[in-house]
Amino acid sequence: MNGSKLSWVEKYKPKTLDEIVGNDAAKKDFIDWLQRWDRRGKAAMLHGPPGVGKTVLVEVAASTLGYRLIETNASDTRREDYLENVIKPAAFNRSLFSSRLMIFFDEIDGISREDSGALNFILELIESSRVPIVMAANDPWSPNLFRIRDKVYMIPMHRIRVQSIVKRLRDICRNEGVRCKQEVLMLIAERSEGDMRAAIEDLELLYSSREDMDLEEAEKILSYRNVEKNIFETLRMVAFAPTLEKALTSLSSSEEKPEDILEWVFENIPHVLPKQSLYRSLRYVAGADALFKQISKNSLWRILPCFYHKLASAFLVAPQKNRASFSFPTRMRERFKRFQHEKNLRELESFFMKDLHMGRSAFRRDLIPLLRLLSKNEDFRRSMLNRMVDQHLKELYSSVILGEARKRFS
Ligand SMILES: Nc1ncnc2c1ncn2[C@@H]1O[C@H](COP(=O)(O)OP(=O)(O)OP(=O)(O)O)[C@@H](O)[C@H]1O
Ligand SMILES: [Mg+2]
Repeated sequence: MNGSKLSWVEKYKPKTLDEIVGNDAAKKDFIDWLQRWDRRGKAAMLHGPPGVGKTVLVEVAASTLGYRLIETNASDTRREDYLENVIKPAAFNRSLFSSRLMIFFDEIDGISREDSGALNFILELIESSRVPIVMAANDPWSPNLFRIRDKVYMIPMHRIRVQSIVKRLRDICRNEGVRCKQEVLMLIAERSEGDMRAAIEDLELLYSSREDMDLEEAEKILSYRNVEKNIFETLRMVAFAPTLEKALTSLSSSEEKPEDILEWVFENIPHVLPKQSLYRSLRYVAGADALFKQISKNSLWRILPCFYHKLASAFLVAPQKNRASFSFPTRMRERFKRFQHEKNLRELESFFMKDLHMGRSAFRRDLIPLLRLLSKNEDFRRSMLNRMVDQHLKELYSSVILGEARKRFS
């Protein structure tokens, strides 16, 4: 299970209603509404802040009540052919599907007023559909939605309480075999502002190397979220800039380091552009990367604007999607993990260097491989661990040499 490639947000996505934390009233209300649904073509809208479980509630409710879900995001919803060929047949059950259907327009506030075709289509559908129509939105009060709002059953969802988030995080840690301090979990939960997705992402960021850490260290690492808030704004402005000049101004006025901006752009381009444009776009990013290496190697800071120009161009190779959620760069996450591993290695080295009077490079080159080999033997492993009186040291040994998740040695 530890080798799983899924992010923790995916891995711990609730599969049953009980696993969806908090928002009990909304859960009950939604299930009741579905059970009462009576072919008179009414729709419901779940609305609330990000990461509280709107999408997941619809998915889980559908599977629990035996519905097959036809799920569409904002960019599909704006495609006329999709509405005509997929949604319409489903709404009138003229489709090939044999099971009960439910139509779900997710992120409905991502549809702009210019897409009046899509909005009209949905309005008509609400009146005439023979299957339940469900929507989700962060901001149901956006002016685009006012005509729809009047016709749907509104179900509010709220931020998740800190204690409930902590409990969920603790369960995840237990399942991952990670030991974590209560105060660190509290820190994550408080910073998340009721957003369960953000909390689980931060938990993974801190603990994916499966090392415990103290509050101070966690605070340092999590301070990326302050940076993220700014960079998030920058990305949004660049990604949705109407012209290259506007994109360029937003990029070059950002306070973030150019190399960090590059990572964020690289990670998030796929969220913003359609697949078929990615190759062209990433060529600009690669160009910017190569250019930045030259700039920093030779102190050519005066040509930094060319670097920003390449990055901004990466976004403008195709019309962007209407709305995107940006994510934390994987390569930066890896860097944190390496940083953690390196720190452990150094601590362990210090112990052995004193004990065996050997140098750092000899330890890394000769002793680590030897210890790894010998530690395959149960007796050797046990005697090594017994020599280490300090609990912390045992854990370092276990993590660095045995490559294991933290263990209790009681
Ligand atoms: N109430 C919850 N209980 C347990 N896990 C949750 C809950 N809410 C969110 N999560 C976690 O966060 C992930 C994202 O949740 P979801 O997509 O349902 O959020 P959302 O409210 O639809 O957010 P957005 O407004 O950004 O679309 C889930 O896959 C799950 O891992
Ligand atoms: Mg959602």
